[in-house]
Amino acid sequence: MNIIRSLSEMKKWSQSLRKAGRTIGFIPTMGALHEGHLSLVAQARSQADATVMSIFVNPIQFGPAEDFRRYPRPLEADCAKAAGAGCDVVFVPQKSDMYPERYCTFVTVEDLSGRLCGASRPAHFRGVATVVLKLFNIVTPDIACFGQKDAQQVIVLRRMAEDLNVPVTIKVCPTVREADGLAMSSRNAYLTPAERAAAPVIYKGLQAARALYDKGERKAVRLSQIIEEHYRTAPLIKKEYIEIVDTISLHPLAAVASTALVAAACRTEESKTRLIDTIVLGGSL
Ligand code: PAJ
Repeated sequence: MNIIRSLSEMKKWSQSLRKAGRTIGFIPTMGALHEGHLSLVAQARSQADATVMSIFVNPIQFGPAEDFRRYPRPLEADCAKAAGAGCDVVFVPQKSDMYPERYCTFVTVEDLSGRLCGASRPAHFRGVATVVLKLFNIVTPDIACFGQKDAQQVIVLRRMAEDLNVPVTIKVCPTVREADGLAMSSRNAYLTPAERAAAPVIYKGLQAARALYDKGERKAVRLSQIIEEHYRTAPLIKKEYIEIVDTISLHPLAAVASTALVAAACRTEESKTRLIDTIVLGGSL
């Protein structure tokens, strides 16, 4: 496996591959890799000739009070995991190359970026859309894989790729979970033992909503209510939002008529870790 740090070298590698008629699958990450990230590698490998993973903790998607500085950066272990999963290249750009002095261009996906997580993280999706477009332009992938856990992210990025005519196919992969149902996340490492023990309630609430939906309930208030009831049983897990929304516009739904995204965001009481999870009812993303 190749580790490429320079933008021009990454471009050159992609160009020569494409010249040889081979397709590129791409997995953008911020590292601290877990099975969720590696499942995206497996998906990319099954659909493209070569696989590139980027590892870049993108400063512009973190708010001033967020965890940019302390975000885990176990680069050596990550490269070993990426190699083990069969990546051909790990692309590790430097902050000063991605955002040199005088950098001032940003991509804003209007409307979608202010909803759900965007309400409490106002510049987050602008930072995500900007870095992912830059990475797409450098890596020139045929397909790019993203996790359903961060459903708003993939919905924003799909819109960005469509609106700006980026020639990439975006694939959404299922959320990989711990044995007790907690969605895997690099941020789970911040949890105190008591918070970790309580955190599976986030997915249990979503599963209860699915069970109610399977019995025929379609009203969004009823589905949200049962999730909320679950969260109220766990004092260490504080709800930030529970929303049932359209999977394209992210507008709230009064009732689930066809496909709906059920998204929950919580903050833990002790370590103040923000955890999100999602399910999709009546279809897929
Ligand atoms: P990061 O949080 O490292 O996630 C990288 C990719 O892994 C995203 O597509 C995310 O949805 C996916 N992922 C994370 N946890 C997952 C899980 N439990 N199961 C399946 N997939 C999972 O998301 C980002 O980085 C950044 O915002 C990025 C897109 C790289 C832009 O900086």
